[in-house]
Amino acid sequence: MKYLSFTLLLFMISTLAGAQKLTNERAQWFTDARFGMFIHWGVYSGAEGYWKGEKLRHGNNYAEWIMYRNRIDKEEYLTLLEKFDWDEIDPEQWVILAKKSGMKYVTITAKHHDGFGLWHSETGDFHLGNYTDRDIIKELSEACHKHGLKLGLYYSHWVDWEHEFGWDHSKELSSISADEYDKYWQEKVIPQVRELLTNYGEISMLWFDMWIHHSESIVTKEQLLQLKSLIRDLQPDCLVNSRLGLSIEEDPDIDFKTLGDNQLGSRKEEFPWQSPATVAHSWGFHRSDTEWKSTSTLIKSLINNVSLNGNLMLNIGPRANGEVPFEISQRMLEMGKWLEVNGESIYGAGAFDLDKDLHDWGRITFKNENNISKLYLHVYTWPLGKKIPLTGVTSTPSRIYLLADKQKSPLEFSHVGAFTEIQIPALAPDPYVSVIVLEYPGYPEITDNLVGKSITGGFSLTPLNAVSEMGEAIIVSESIFATVPLHVLIEDPANLQWKIYVDMPGTKNIDLSYSYQGEVNKGNLSIAKGNQRLTHNIQPTGKTIGEPNQNWVIDNFKSHRIGQVYFPEAGYYDIELVVSPGPQEEIKFQWIWIR
Ligand code: GLC
Repeated sequence: MKYLSFTLLLFMISTLAGAQKLTNERAQWFTDARFGMFIHWGVYSGAEGYWKGEKLRHGNNYAEWIMYRNRIDKEEYLTLLEKFDWDEIDPEQWVILAKKSGMKYVTITAKHHDGFGLWHSETGDFHLGNYTDRDIIKELSEACHKHGLKLGLYYSHWVDWEHEFGWDHSKELSSISADEYDKYWQEKVIPQVRELLTNYGEISMLWFDMWIHHSESIVTKEQLLQLKSLIRDLQPDCLVNSRLGLSIEEDPDIDFKTLGDNQLGSRKEEFPWQSPATVAHSWGFHRSDTEWKSTSTLIKSLINNVSLNGNLMLNIGPRANGEVPFEISQRMLEMGKWLEVNGESIYGAGAFDLDKDLHDWGRITFKNENNISKLYLHVYTWPLGKKIPLTGVTSTPSRIYLLADKQKSPLEFSHVGAFTEIQIPALAPDPYVSVIVLEYPGYPEITDNLVGKSITGGFSLTPLNAVSEMGEAIIVSESIFATVPLHVLIEDPANLQWKIYVDMPGTKNIDLSYSYQGEVNKGNLSIAKGNQRLTHNIQPTGKTIGEPNQNWVIDNFKSHRIGQVYFPEAGYYDIELVVSPGPQEEIKFQWIWIR
């Protein structure tokens, strides 16, 4: 027999919310800063993604790769410098843009993979000193100092297309020996990093770019440790990122983890981390790059990362005359305006201990200063119902207000158990993301692992917010275009459990969505609450069509009203679903909706 049973139980737990724990002294400024600027600018900026009429040869459109992708030889590549208008180029403008955009640090490609240094190097001849009297690193360092921003330098250590023995992926075919590579390392990398850390004042970060582990590359761990100890000797406070080639897990002396390009955080981490991101796609200026992310997407990317203890470093790819593309500067300045009002919820803020997906209205960041805790609710879509539900915090807030409201006029709210409901004005104070502040004396107590109450008033119990093990049941991700939604494939008896906090007692409808492709009305589902039990005959849900005229037939998922359950009082309830399919029969469970 096939059935689903459903039981409700009362329970209560609570834990403490905390701050980001694995930030070393050196990186404290970094986790406070949260938002920085990346600058990809170099010889490649003169090409704008094209060489001799041909577009860059790679779908990722990384314009700074043109020398390698389009197989340009070194001498010819440097003819691109003729495009540079030195009267127009003014690195201070980049720093001013960063500052107006609310960014606290700037990281420039001192040397990218092409091997060309943007400063007057004493090492080799492939650097700006041979072509102009301008030293971009010096100018940027002075501008950062003047405007109070930290300076980071990107240095491509592993890959160098210019040096005879530097790494170039084509060497997978021609190969170089370990000794030859070490010659590059000792002749170019070590002396150049020494110059950068000696001649330009305080360098707050060295940003390396090896996106694979050193064990898979020609670089040895010894070489990386040699480089790191040089940095520690010369500027002990300079941060080093994990793309040095050593993971933060393997070497806790690495200051922060760098995620993949344009990869945002997906889980809370206690160590510092950062996403490098672009406004469109390419890092260096690419003339036909047009996939501009919206300002609101970028603001949400920043909020997402901060809510998981991470940073965002957003890139500009200036043109050969130093100009920042309008589509980029416009969005950054809009972010700056948003941060002028709402920056308190970003700078010095971090993750709160509740699950990131708990609330369907947005994301939470957290701060504790002088024993006052503040929760910042970032509301992505202002609910029409004029109420924001907050699930999981058991402490009562001392006051609630809009961050945009200088008067901090109190918002009305009610609080019961693990549920706070805030009355909000009809109109959102901010067109992008509005922030509501909840203040608590001390650290607020929480109950973790609850299903959040939706802005539409119900509870959606899904495979992802279940608290229990599901035996052999397998979570199946949504398929292409999500025509088949995420579900649990249940072939053997399985048991799912959730915890909810019911703030409004009373009778609630129970809907269940599943797909069943067996024969007509064979077996049943039953749902129990204490000694009450609801039984539901399993109904075949049939098929549906994904797109017209493509013979695209998919299993249908359908919602069934299986009855009503009475919740006698406000409180915690355990919800249990037991599924026992018959032999060779499977149920694809999607969700329970309680409202
Ligand atoms: C990749 C690319 C590079 C870019 C970097 C930014 O490593 O090779 O061109 O500088 O990502 O994160």
